[in-house]
Amino acid sequence: MTEWKDRVAARNEGIADAGRWRSIRTLDGGGPVFTLDDGRSIVSFASNDYLGLSQHPSVVDAAHEALNRYGSGSGSARLIVGARPVHRELEAELASWKSTEAALLFPTGFAANLGALTTFGTDGVLVVSDELNHASIIDGCRLSRAQVEIARHADVDHVESLLRAHDGPAIVVTDTVFSMDGDLAPLDDLVDVCARHDALLVLDEAHAVLGPSLPKGATDRVDILRVGTLSKTLGALGGFVAGPRAFVDLVVNAARPFIFTTAPTPADSAAALAALELLRSEEGQTLVSVLRARVDQIATTHPSPIVPVVLGDEERAISAAARLLDDHGLLVPAIRPPTVPAGTSRLRVALSAAHSEDQVTRLAKALAEL
Ligand SMILES: Cc1ncc(COP(=O)(O)O)c(C=O)c1O
Repeated sequence: MTEWKDRVAARNEGIADAGRWRSIRTLDGGGPVFTLDDGRSIVSFASNDYLGLSQHPSVVDAAHEALNRYGSGSGSARLIVGARPVHRELEAELASWKSTEAALLFPTGFAANLGALTTFGTDGVLVVSDELNHASIIDGCRLSRAQVEIARHADVDHVESLLRAHDGPAIVVTDTVFSMDGDLAPLDDLVDVCARHDALLVLDEAHAVLGPSLPKGATDRVDILRVGTLSKTLGALGGFVAGPRAFVDLVVNAARPFIFTTAPTPADSAAALAALELLRSEEGQTLVSVLRARVDQIATTHPSPIVPVVLGDEERAISAAARLLDDHGLLVPAIRPPTVPAGTSRLRVALSAAHSEDQVTRLAKALAEL
């Protein structure tokens, strides 16, 4: 027992000594304006609630109704206790949105990536993964039985040379919008490369609210699985894998992060369903245009709502974030190693249609002062 206490203390000290100790702040409210523990009111530019749908009355009402109808929990895994109708309805809507034959819900986007990569990344398969892919893809690769090769960021020639060197089935997996840089994967070229090598293309579209979309006719040329989250643009909690029916059926039967975990709560699924219906309506498209305008206020034509301000040094990033919060009441997280490579510590600005023009102007001015 004492040995474990010593071991834990030494590790905690090691993290603190490296200047990488993190702790969780409490923010009261629904966002983007929150109240801190000390009573200060701040505007958050940290959340991935890109369209503000977590606060939309129809989304909140749908969650309330589901709570009243189904109760709070879903009881167990779906292969044990069955799905609720709302799970099925949401899956049908997700499949329609992604123009796929089927979709399957997971408790989180993280679990969806684990499920997809462990299902298809079996013995003898090569997985080619972009070096800046999200942690859930990295862990999905680690958990799989596949041979994993890391491709240089957005370097399609490197992807192709790794595929060429392998004799057997292959998967190419990439974020479509990279979560710390907000840049895009070269989707058109990746589709071409996968078509040439008959590789399965796994796309994580967690942040793809402003695009990119799949090139026309891509699914006629390549097998594609689309992984997504309900926790960002859709303002709820959960993840999904969408693709051809037989592929999704295999996920149901093989993915341990689906089989051995409790189904998403009905309230979360109902909220995501209402959010998705909104997103696909005229109102949703208006929100997307507002988000586009907010991004343009900070970085014209930047392709996503994630705008990095790379400062290099960890200390610089931390002190810039502290100044934004203390002097301006703006919460912009400092992102540093191990989340990003050493020397690329940054502020990560996440914009939302829920931000007012004025709030974003305040942020732009404060960033300029830095
Ligand atoms: C690219 C990417 N994929 C997957 C996830 C995981 O999604 P979730 O938060 O729903 O687990 C995230 C973020 O959390 C992400 O940024």
